[in-house]
Amino acid sequence: MGIPHYISCRVHNFFLHEDTRAVCFSSMVKMVTVYAACALLCFAPLLVVSDPPVLTQPEQVHLSYPGVPGSMVVTWTTFNRTDSLVEYSPWGDILFHKSAKGSVTPFVDSGNEKRKMFIHRVTLSDLKPGSHYVYHCGSDMGWSDMFWFRPIDETIIQPAFALYGDLGNENPQSLARLQKETQLGILDAILHIGDFAYDMHEDNARVGDEFMRQIQSIAAYVPYMTCPGNHESAYNFSNYRNRFSMPGRTESLWYSWNIGPIHIISLSTEVYFYLEFGQELLFRQYDWLKQDLEVKNRAARPWIITMGHRPMYCSDDDQDDCTTFDSFVAIVQGGPDRCFPSPGVDVELWAHEHTYERLWPVYGDKVFNGSVAEPYTNPKAPVHIITGSAGCKEKTDRFNPNPKDWSAFRSTDYGYTHMQVVNHTHLYLGQVSDDQAGKTIDSIWIIKDKHGYDAWF
Ligand SMILES: [Fe+2]
Repeated sequence: MGIPHYISCRVHNFFLHEDTRAVCFSSMVKMVTVYAACALLCFAPLLVVSDPPVLTQPEQVHLSYPGVPGSMVVTWTTFNRTDSLVEYSPWGDILFHKSAKGSVTPFVDSGNEKRKMFIHRVTLSDLKPGSHYVYHCGSDMGWSDMFWFRPIDETIIQPAFALYGDLGNENPQSLARLQKETQLGILDAILHIGDFAYDMHEDNARVGDEFMRQIQSIAAYVPYMTCPGNHESAYNFSNYRNRFSMPGRTESLWYSWNIGPIHIISLSTEVYFYLEFGQELLFRQYDWLKQDLEVKNRAARPWIITMGHRPMYCSDDDQDDCTTFDSFVAIVQGGPDRCFPSPGVDVELWAHEHTYERLWPVYGDKVFNGSVAEPYTNPKAPVHIITGSAGCKEKTDRFNPNPKDWSAFRSTDYGYTHMQVVNHTHLYLGQVSDDQAGKTIDSIWIIKDKHGYDAWF
């Protein structure tokens, strides 16, 4: 038979007569042909019905808080349709003894390749506050790495955040520090105040895929709460709307949620600028905002904090909206400066400018400090922070050398902001400089004995 003949030929071939070598070579060719045919027949069904595993492998895993205490949403992407499962367990229990099933939504990017992907969403519920959970996600066609998280609960007493905008795939200066802080467990949530990837739709949404892979190192461990920026506008914000899973039913455009003593409102400032996508969005957001600002149970959640991408005040030397007197965001009917003071919004978080700027308490372009000695103790207007220097390929911006009276501190360092609410009266804000090895280059305490409209008088 062939095998002994082949082995014999292989061993002795070098020493055989030329005719004998020809016979051996012919035998080997036949052997290889027979084995190749067998292999093809054996594996043909698999080649037809199976996809390369990479297309069913979960990636781009990230968490978000859906606004329901004791719950968490896990979102991820595959490139072929699979089931949507999360297996999880409290840290220290039998691994993965709980499981939850979710849904999968196809997303076709609008670029010329019409790339298709599948976005999976699974909500975990009945999570015990104070515990850590380990989880992985996917299906029997592929599981993610194993991650961990600490459930969000409205009873968290002193919630701590990292916040920033304008983080891209290239030059993501702040990412390493954020990865370390996340792994140290010092953050309860991350707020990304618009402008992702630069831009998610580029290269037929491959840039978006790469960005989501990049932030998995932080977003798979703590809720990654977002709002849209101008860099998400392509194809009517479709990459943003499909890839994130924020609370409510607005495809993550605007929503609110509670954590500890804070009510956080996330807005789309882009509804004021991209009217071609529907003016009704502007009115819908305004109607929703009016209702949402009538915060229930203000005694339990005295702090109202808003986040939106484009600021209404800034002192950069570009020609952006916030550099103009009475910026569009400030004056538009239903805009933040018209809505926020009456319910007593305490802090307004912005990005878009690739710098950090802290403002004195300001309303209507005027400063309303608490006092000369202690401007942030019982301020008479909201406090604005602009934090858009996390790092992206557009680098940082420059400042106008002659800022207005409301500008209190400015930095062009790359970095991000820490925020922690300590109790009903004290809130900490600090700016971390990546350029200065993680040094906190600016910090304030906002102290409020009263919240709400009455606090302004
Ligand atoms: Fe922007």
